[in-house]
Amino acid sequence: MVIDILTLFPNMFEGFLSESIIKRAIQDKKVTINIHNFRDYSLDPHHNVDDYSYGGGAGMVLMPQPIFDCVEKLKTKDSKVIILTPAGRKYEQKIAYDLSHEKHLIIICGHYEGFDERIMSLADLEISIGDYVLTGGELPAQVVTDSIVRLLPGVIAEESHLEDSFNNNLLDYPVYTKPAEFRGMKVPDILLSGDHKKIDKWRHDEALKKTKERRPDLLERS
Ligand code: ADE
Repeated sequence: MVIDILTLFPNMFEGFLSESIIKRAIQDKKVTINIHNFRDYSLDPHHNVDDYSYGGGAGMVLMPQPIFDCVEKLKTKDSKVIILTPAGRKYEQKIAYDLSHEKHLIIICGHYEGFDERIMSLADLEISIGDYVLTGGELPAQVVTDSIVRLLPGVIAEESHLEDSFNNNLLDYPVYTKPAEFRGMKVPDILLSGDHKKIDKWRHDEALKKTKERRPDLLERS
């Protein structure tokens, strides 16, 4: 998979791309991630990318030209263009699964007051990562990219994400490691029993219990 990310703040991606699972996925060529500063595409003599809002109002609006030119340079018949905006479709694991099967994603990060509405015509999908407003799309782009890259074949063990929260609309069951007792808190006996059938049933029951308590809305969906 190739992911092209368009941003005005490329430095915000440095840590994200150079640590842990994402770094390894890039090294192992499971994914190629390119960061593009769309200011470089501005035809304005001062490389401006934004201007005041027609009709008045606070904040600057991103102009169409730099983003159109950058997307048009990168786009192929296999590309899916995503715009990050608080007004987009609420992001969830199902969307991450669907996007993990794409060959090429182009992800556009906004900043300032927002995008000139004509930029939206480039998008196959507008995504919001939640009902709150961030200063820009860079953190949402990292959230979306991270959630997709970990699903790519060979990035993490497949069993790990088959057991993820939200698969089958269930939250994850509780997990424990050594020691078997810590400050009086004991690991449930069943996990030490070696009886895998019983352990599977216990885990399913615990996942169901947790989901009922915390996210009954997930159960209503299934
Ligand atoms: N840009 C600013 N806030 C955002 C959000 N919640 N989701 C996606 N993009 C955003």
